[in-house]
Amino acid sequence: MKKYLTKRNILLSLLLAFIVMQFFPIDKTNPPVELENDFIKLTEPPTEIAANMKTMCYDCHSHESHYPWYTNIAPFSWRIKSHIDNGRKHLNFSLWGNYSDKKRVHKLEECIDMTTKHWMPTLDYKLMHGRLSDEKYSEMAKFFKKIKIQKPITQNFDYLLGSFRKKN
Ligand code: HEC
Repeated sequence: MKKYLTKRNILLSLLLAFIVMQFFPIDKTNPPVELENDFIKLTEPPTEIAANMKTMCYDCHSHESHYPWYTNIAPFSWRIKSHIDNGRKHLNFSLWGNYSDKKRVHKLEECIDMTTKHWMPTLDYKLMHGRLSDEKYSEMAKFFKKIKIQKPITQNFDYLLGSFRKKN
């Protein structure tokens, strides 16, 4: 009987599979960004914290994802895409203005938790982008805590306007 499972054939099939995978690229179109709903625009963190959020969180938790060269290579691209889709579903800083007060407080609690425990970003992301220093993590967590107890003026205004509308 002819031997099919030679080292050479296995390598060739792996190579073929890899090539076929490349015909299934990911969709990299970001949904439109409405700046008036953006977390950073609405909460105005200090510049450095804003910059850290942009580089360490916004790739998966906003409509401003960047796609470096390796996001062109399947199967890594598929994993990255699923992190982005899943990340946006759980927490989307581009839609912050549309969240209810209750949801914002809940999401901020989760953000405080994730940053104090250093659980975010995901492990793959840390491998590719480096990690935040302990100090930067704690600055970020502190900012989330501050925002949590502070009701944005716009919300108070909406609230007043709402009760005014209800009365009239
Ligand atoms: C590589 C993509 C990626 C990056 C970058 C990233 N996250 Fe996430 N994040 C995810 C995914 C995926 C989930 C959903 C995890 C799950 O399925 O349980 C998540 C979940 C979360 C949650 C929980 C939300 C919920 O509803 O349970 C919070 C909070 C969070 N991330 C905050 C952050 C913060 C803060 C940063 C930046 C310091 C960050 N993430 C960076 C991918 C990412």
